[in-house]
Amino acid sequence: MKSYKIVALPGDGIGPEIMKCGLDVLEAISEGTDYRFQISKKAFGGAAIDQFGEPLPKETLDAAKEADAILLAAIGGPKWDEETERPEAGLLALRKALALFANIRPIQVPAAISHLSPLKEDRVAGCDFIVVRELTGGLYFGEPKQWNEHEATDTLYYQAYEIERIIEKAFLIARSRDKKVTSVDKANVLASSKLWRKIAEQVAARYPEITLEHLYVDAASMLLIQNPKKFDVIVTENMFGDIISDEASVIPGSLGLLPSASHAENGPSLYEPIHGSAPDIAGQNIANPISMILSVAMMLRQSFQLHEAAKKIEQATNRTMESGCLTKDLGGNATTTAFTEAVIKEIQKGAVQNGTNTF
Ligand SMILES: NC(=O)c1ccc[n+]([C@@H]2O[C@H](COP(=O)([O-])OP(=O)(O)OC[C@H]3O[C@@H](n4cnc5c(N)ncnc54)[C@H](O)[C@@H]3O)[C@@H](O)[C@H]2O)c1
Repeated sequence: MKSYKIVALPGDGIGPEIMKCGLDVLEAISEGTDYRFQISKKAFGGAAIDQFGEPLPKETLDAAKEADAILLAAIGGPKWDEETERPEAGLLALRKALALFANIRPIQVPAAISHLSPLKEDRVAGCDFIVVRELTGGLYFGEPKQWNEHEATDTLYYQAYEIERIIEKAFLIARSRDKKVTSVDKANVLASSKLWRKIAEQVAARYPEITLEHLYVDAASMLLIQNPKKFDVIVTENMFGDIISDEASVIPGSLGLLPSASHAENGPSLYEPIHGSAPDIAGQNIANPISMILSVAMMLRQSFQLHEAAKKIEQATNRTMESGCLTKDLGGNATTTAFTEAVIKEIQKGAVQNGTNTF
C-alpha cells in the first residue's frame, strides 16, 4: 500500500476549523483505495508563538522538509499584531527554507454562484484560469534595497534561470488545459521585462502546441475585469503577480473559494487557501472550507499525481454547491461542518464525470 507523508499546519483563526474539513475529505477520498495519508500536525504561526515563542519552530520546519507535501490552513490575527515575533514571518521563512519559487492560483467561477461576482454574471460564468506567479525573485528581494528621508531604492533583479523555470511551469500547466499562455510584463519600460519576454519566446519554441501571447501589465489588469474568460494560464513576475492574483481573486465573489500551490524545483510543495485566518468569523463554524478542500485536491493532483481523486473532490464540491448547500459568505446558511459532510457524501457516491478543466 502506498503511503504519503503530509505535514498539516492548522495555524490560527479559522485555520484549525477548515484544516479539519480538508483532512476529513482526505480520509474519505482514500477509503477503498490502495493509498493512505500519514498526517503529522505541527504548530505554526501564532499558535506556535504561543507554544514555542516563534512562528516556525525547528520541529515544524524539519517535519516540513521531510514531508511529501505540506498543507497549510491560515495564520495571523490581532492577538499577535503587537508582538515582536509575527506569525506572517513564519510563512516567509517557510517559503524561503523550501525555496518555493512558483505560486499557482487557479481562479474558477462555479456556475452555481456566478451571480455573486462583483462583475456581470455573463462575463464571469464559466471563467477558469490560472495565475502562475514567480515568488522568490524580483523587486521584493533585489539588492540594494534602502530608503531614507530623501531617497529610496528598490532593485528589480532577475537571473535568466529564474525566469525560465517559472515560464516553463506555466507551459507545463497549459499543456493539460486550453493550451494558451499569457505572459504579463512591462517590456516597453523595464529591462527585466525585456529579458522576460525573450525567454518566454524561447520556452514557447519548445511547446509548439501552445499559443503564447504577451500583455503589458496595465493592459492585463484591464482585461481581467473586461473579459476574464479570455485567459487560460497567466504567468508573471513577483510584484505583477502579487497584484494581478489579488485582482483575480475577487472575481468569484468570495475569498473562501480559492486554493493555491507553491512549488520548489525539488522537495515538498505547499498547498494553502489564498485567504488569511479570518479572525472576524473564527470559532463560529461558518467559514467556507472550499479553499481548503480544493487545496487538498491540488495536492493530490500536483504532488501525488492522483488525478482521478482530485477530480472527484472538485466535482463533489461543485455538486454540493449546485444542490444549494452554501456557506454564509456565498449567501447560504450551511455551517462549515455541514458543507464538508455534504461534500464527503458526494465523494462517497463515486463516479467522476468528464469535461472539467484541471489545474
Ligand atoms: N497565508 C495566510 O495565512 C494569510 C494570508 C493573508 C492574511 N493573513 C493574515 O490573516 C489575518 C486576517 O487578515 P484579513 O482579515 O486581512 O484577511 P482574511 O483573508 O483573513 O479575511 C478577509 C475577509 O474575508 C473573509 N474570509 C476569508 N476567508 C474566508 C472563508 N474561508 N470563509 C468565509 N469568509 C472568509 C473574512 O471573514 C474577512 O471578512 C491577518 O493577521 C493577516 O496577516 C494570513
